[in-house]
Amino acid sequence: MNDAVLQAIRTRRVVRALTPDPVAREDLVTVLDSARHAPHAGNRRLHRYVAVTRPALLRALRMVSPGMLQRPTAAIVVCVDWARVSGYGFAATSPGPHVDVGTATATMLLAAHAVGLGAGPVTSFSRAAVGTLLNLPEQVRPELIICLGHPAAEQPPPMRRRDGTAWADVIQWDRG
Ligand SMILES: Cc1cc2nc3c(=O)[nH]c(=O)nc-3n(C[C@H](O)[C@H](O)[C@H](O)COP(=O)(O)O)c2cc1C
Repeated sequence: MNDAVLQAIRTRRVVRALTPDPVAREDLVTVLDSARHAPHAGNRRLHRYVAVTRPALLRALRMVSPGMLQRPTAAIVVCVDWARVSGYGFAATSPGPHVDVGTATATMLLAAHAVGLGAGPVTSFSRAAVGTLLNLPEQVRPELIICLGHPAAEQPPPMRRRDGTAWADVIQWDRG
């Protein structure tokens, strides 16, 4: 039993209040590097990761991302190269590339937590505007942004679950 891993999984939370201190490049590299250890469908590398540290570019990202409630001092934009997806014979509707965005993101969120950074995923943003800001090739679509920074002492309350579903209600055993 690996207590450290379980402990990290259980204590990670989205961090939306960040200090203005910059993220050390070494920590950003550690977080980026963790994505290569995430499981990927068919072990193909159909994703591209854009690290953003320039304050003006981070501000511009915020302007086109209504879901970005934090002021990150670094960000990782997780993109899918849809030309490579079709090159591998995957249909555009294939769930693999999107699931891979999730596995890579979950792994990077845990890595950020492990190095003491605050992190939060954002999907509420204009794909077209972020693609333009980052000068991405047309076939490379930004799918999710991980905001990073140093956690502030005070955090806003976590987002409330609207339907009040208990965890026990979402797990079912041996159906059918
Ligand atoms: C696919 C995905 C998209 C998300 N998009 C946003 C977003 O746009 N803005 C935001 O503030 N949080 C976003 N979140 C974070 C969730 O709100 C957060 O994970 C949830 O409230 C549970 O909080 P916790 O991760 O701290 O347990 C997203 C999470 C996921 C997995």
